[in-house]
Amino acid sequence: MALEAYPFLLTLEKRIGFTDEDKNLLNSEADWGLKVAPDMAEYFYAYLGRDEEMNKILYDGEGRIHRLRETFILWFHEMFTGMDNWGSEYADRRWKIGLVHVRLGIAPQHVVPAMATVVHEVGKRLQNDGKSEALKDSLGRICMIDLTFIEQAYIEVSSAAVLQETGWTEGLFKRLIATGAKFL
Ligand code: HEM
Repeated sequence: MALEAYPFLLTLEKRIGFTDEDKNLLNSEADWGLKVAPDMAEYFYAYLGRDEEMNKILYDGEGRIHRLRETFILWFHEMFTGMDNWGSEYADRRWKIGLVHVRLGIAPQHVVPAMATVVHEVGKRLQNDGKSEALKDSLGRICMIDLTFIEQAYIEVSSAAVLQETGWTEGLFKRLIATGAKFL
């Protein structure tokens, strides 16, 4: 059940309609992305910090919030540069970001609203800075791709752990989930 990050990225690009036009547009605005990234980080961590559960995670450990601001800025900028033109390096990085959150025990319920905050705040900033609707759409699409990587990591890690511990086949596991869902 191990996820192959690059084929997964290609599938998501197709599904979400993330095209070469989106990539070119994002590339052309990479400097703007870097410029606004620290402000976006501020909004992001202020939002997370208002939640009691997430606040505990953010301020757990020496220098974590400082490190987080830096990694957020890098992440945000990479959405514009695409790293290796949205190749395997980009895919592997997104997959790894997902795994980090699973390992930290951050519940997936926190991740979608967190990304919604990014989309909302960047939307306001785009408007203030007179940027196009097209750029807003491109950013929305790449944010959804990045979000899907994080969400997918939860199911991949949980499934792999169960299969490893029990020796069940993937088919049996899927049938058990389908049956279990009927009882909820
Ligand atoms: C839109 C959703 C999110 C994005 C894009 C994001 C981005 C990132 C990135 C890029 C990293 C660095 C990963 C690495 O070290 O390789 C990271 C780590 C981390 N994130 Fe997130 N994150 C998101 C949601 C959250 C949420 C909801 C929390 C909850 C508190 C959170 C807390 C953390 C923590 C604690 C770390 C590890 C920091 C450290 O000790 O180095 N993140 N995140």
